[in-house]
Amino acid sequence: MDRFRIRGGKPLRGKVVISGSKNAALPAMAASLLTADPVLLHGVPEVRDVATLRLLVEHLGGSTEASGTGTLRMQVGALSEPDAPYDLVRKMRASVLVLGPLLARRGRAHVSLPGGCAIGERPVDLHISALRRLGATVEVVHGYIDARSDRLRGAEVDFERVTVTGTENLMMAACLADGTTVLRNCAREPEVADLAKLLNAMGARIEGAGTDTLTIEGVGSLHGAEHDVPPDRIEAGTFVLAGLMAADELVVERCRVEDLASPLEKLREAGASIEPLGNGLRVLGGRELRGCDVTTAPFPGFPTDLQAQYMAAMTQARGAAVITEAIFENRFMHVGELRRMGADVTHEGRTAIVRGPARLSAAQVMATDLRASACLVLAGLVAEGVTEVSRVYHIDRGYASIESKLRSLGADIERVSR
Ligand code: UD1
Repeated sequence: MDRFRIRGGKPLRGKVVISGSKNAALPAMAASLLTADPVLLHGVPEVRDVATLRLLVEHLGGSTEASGTGTLRMQVGALSEPDAPYDLVRKMRASVLVLGPLLARRGRAHVSLPGGCAIGERPVDLHISALRRLGATVEVVHGYIDARSDRLRGAEVDFERVTVTGTENLMMAACLADGTTVLRNCAREPEVADLAKLLNAMGARIEGAGTDTLTIEGVGSLHGAEHDVPPDRIEAGTFVLAGLMAADELVVERCRVEDLASPLEKLREAGASIEPLGNGLRVLGGRELRGCDVTTAPFPGFPTDLQAQYMAAMTQARGAAVITEAIFENRFMHVGELRRMGADVTHEGRTAIVRGPARLSAAQVMATDLRASACLVLAGLVAEGVTEVSRVYHIDRGYASIESKLRSLGADIERVSR
C-alpha cells in the first residue's frame, strides 16, 4: 500500500494546472450508456474513480479507450446483462450512476447497493423513490437494486433532500421517458449543469440546468456527442488552500472562479489574498489568516468536499473557527489525525472547533477517505519534520498525481510503495 512521505516547511511557489473534474467526468461517462453511438470526453482526469467506472462500463458491454491526453472515447453499442456487481460498486459509490441510464435504455437495471462508507451511511432511497415516480418497479433484493420498466413515464418529482447523483440519475432516466418530467429541489452543483449540457448535446431536451427545477421532455433516442469536462473545483480549492498555508505565491491555473465563489468569499473573510488571474487565481501566502466559521451546504454553499482541507488551513489561522458539517453525518475522521499532529481541534456531533495557530509536528497518520487524505497532506506541508500519510489510495480516487503537482511547486513529497 502506498504512502506519502512529506517533509514539511518547504515554501511552495509557481503554477499548478487543475485537472478535469472527477464529479463531472463520472456522470458524463455514465451518460454514454444512453446511446449506441460514441461519446467523446475531453479533459477526463487520470484518477482511480474514472478507471473504476471504465471497468464497470466495459462490464456492461461498452468499450472505453483513453488517449494519453485526457480524451476518453466511450461506446456502448449493445448492452450486455445490465448488472453492476458488488465488487465494482463497493469501490466507488458513484457507480450507482449507471442505474438511471440502464433502466432508461435497457428497461432493467440490477445494481448493487453501495452500502455505507467512512463518511456516513449514504443511502440511495431518494434515487429509488424518484425512479418509482417515473413508473419503474424497484425492489431491493439480496443487496441489489432490481429495477424494471418497459418504458419510463414522465412525472413530477420533488426531492426530499438535495442529492447530487440522485438528480443526475433521474435526469438521465427522464431523457428517454415518455412525456415530460419535472424534477424539483434538484442539486445545483456545476457538475449537474455540466451533465445537462452533455445530455442536450446528445439530443436530450433539458431546461433549467443550474437551477433547482429541471424540466425534461423525453425523446425516443439519444446520439453521440463530444464534450469538454470542466476543471475540478475541489482540486482547485485544495491548491488554493495549499497556497495560503505554504506558498509565497501560487497560481492556480484552469479553474472556474464562479464555481468557487463560496469558499473564496470565506477565505477572503479570513484575510486571504486571492485574485483572479487569466483563467485562474493568484494566491498570496505568508499572511496570517483569522479563524472563520463555516457550515457546509449544497451548491452554491460551502462544499462538504472542501471541509477537511479548510480545517487544515484553520489550524494555522489565529483564533477559533467553528466548522459545521451539514451534509454528511460522519465527516470528521481527519480530526483525530490532525490532533495527533498537534492541532487543537475538538468535535462533537457535526461541529468541530479549531483553535489556532498551532505548531504542527509531523506524525504517521492514516487517510480515511478522499478529502480527509488531502487535509492530511496539507497539514504535512506545514508540519515540522517528516509526515507519513498512509492509505493514499483514497487520495488517488480523486486527485490526479497530487504529489507530482505539489513537487513541481517545491514541496518535498514522495510516494513510497511497499
Ligand atoms: C456527491 C459527490 C460527492 C459530494 C456529495 C455532496 C459525486 C460523484 N459525488 O455525492 O463528492 O461529497 O455529492 O456534495 O458527485 N442522501 C439520502 N438519500 C439518497 C441520496 C442522498 O439521504 O438517496 C443524503 C446523503 O446521505 C447525504 C446527502 O443526502 O447526507 C447528500 O448526498 P448526495 O448529494 O446524494 O451525495 P452523492 O451524490 O453521493
